[in-house]
Amino acid sequence: MEPFRIKAVEPIPFPTPEQRDAALTKAGYNLFRVPSRAITVDLLTDSGTSAMSAAQWSALLSGDESYAGATSFERFEAVVRHLTGYDEIIPVHQGRAAERILFATLLRPGDVSVANTHFDTTRASVEAVGGHAVDLPVGAGLGSQPSPFGGDIDLDALHSLLDGQGGASVRCVVLTITNNAGGGQPVSMANIAGTRALCNAYDVPLLLDASRFAENAYLITERDPDHAHYTPREVAQLTFSLADGCWASLKKDGIGNIGGMIALRDAGLARRCRDRLIAVEGFPTYGGLAGRDLEALAQGLQEVTDPAYLRYRAQTARWFGERLQEAGLPVLQPTGCHAVYVDAAQLLPHVAPQRLPATALANALYLAGAVRVSELGTLVFGRADPDGGPDLPAPRELVRLALPRRVYTKSHLEYVAETAATAVAKAAEIPGYRIVEQADTLRHFSAVLSPVE
Ligand code: F0G
Repeated sequence: MEPFRIKAVEPIPFPTPEQRDAALTKAGYNLFRVPSRAITVDLLTDSGTSAMSAAQWSALLSGDESYAGATSFERFEAVVRHLTGYDEIIPVHQGRAAERILFATLLRPGDVSVANTHFDTTRASVEAVGGHAVDLPVGAGLGSQPSPFGGDIDLDALHSLLDGQGGASVRCVVLTITNNAGGGQPVSMANIAGTRALCNAYDVPLLLDASRFAENAYLITERDPDHAHYTPREVAQLTFSLADGCWASLKKDGIGNIGGMIALRDAGLARRCRDRLIAVEGFPTYGGLAGRDLEALAQGLQEVTDPAYLRYRAQTARWFGERLQEAGLPVLQPTGCHAVYVDAAQLLPHVAPQRLPATALANALYLAGAVRVSELGTLVFGRADPDGGPDLPAPRELVRLALPRRVYTKSHLEYVAETAATAVAKAAEIPGYRIVEQADTLRHFSAVLSPVE
């Protein structure tokens, strides 16, 4: 059961079938354009959607809003230093601000960043400065084979890259923990240590995208017998000790509604990041956040490694995955902590990739019960054909049901499973979609679609 009780509540809307139909049509069949007042259970993302604890709410009041040298920064800095072991702590307003500052400082045009998988905003920051983001996920990538550490980087491929002709252009190796674009799967301690050894041998810094560091640490204690007797905090500290620095969106494992950070060992690199920070985010003791946000994050970063909370979170995701499987959705195994991923192509073989099967399933879940999920298929990852043919489909047509932290109870998730069963019962009638209007980049946020029979 949930290892907390509820102190403040918020009503949720129950739009009728007619209202859902009207809302989706008005939104151009794109769930990003549906207002939250038309959503019953919102599983679009686990980012910034968490419920804060009573201790976090009360910490808000001690926020010091001084422009420079705020005590709230000192508290945040002390918590992050203790957790990571890094000295140089730089707050930013969210993860992508950290990425923009770090990669603009670290990379020159033509430089390479190698990762288990760059999250899409990370890739965008690398490419924005003319760099190349190379992904080397283990195996054939997401969901290809059930494995306890499906988030790992392919160490053989990394070794060949560093040792080959292109090796000299590699400016950093990145491990995204957990690997969000890779199904929220964890990276193993052996893989982190192996990456460290290669980085030492080739003198390249190892950086962590630590947005879900606590979930990665917990899954290591659960899946790796060598670390079963460690606490999640100890595993997290060990993980940070093997890297040269990290950045994080604290909208995930910071349990905050906004926030991010860069934390580094290298004082020279940190100084150059701070120079850039001042121009684009704010003074280095607040970095685009209010003092009260820093207080809430300092508290959240302490709560998030609570073993009871993490056990509940992993067990909830597993239980939810089983319910969705029973409802007839093809669920990717094993589930991680922050989301359950479903293979829409398997459920909707009658919808061709160019007709966006993942979008089709996401929209069907909305129409069946005002449940909002995100599509990770051709709308997000499809590419225009350089030869002018039809769009090249994404390798997988996935739908992600993300779990906001401490927000929904098991009965909300039971409702989602019932909604899924309703949608699955009419799977053969679910239409595909075509794109009517789209932006040049990140088209999924704003595209207008139309159903096709
Ligand atoms: N890195 C990872 C692994 C992420 O999952 C995200 C965001 C970011 C960086 C960027 O952080 O949103 O604070 O700027 N992921 C969200 C998601 C959007 O829904 O998975 P941000």
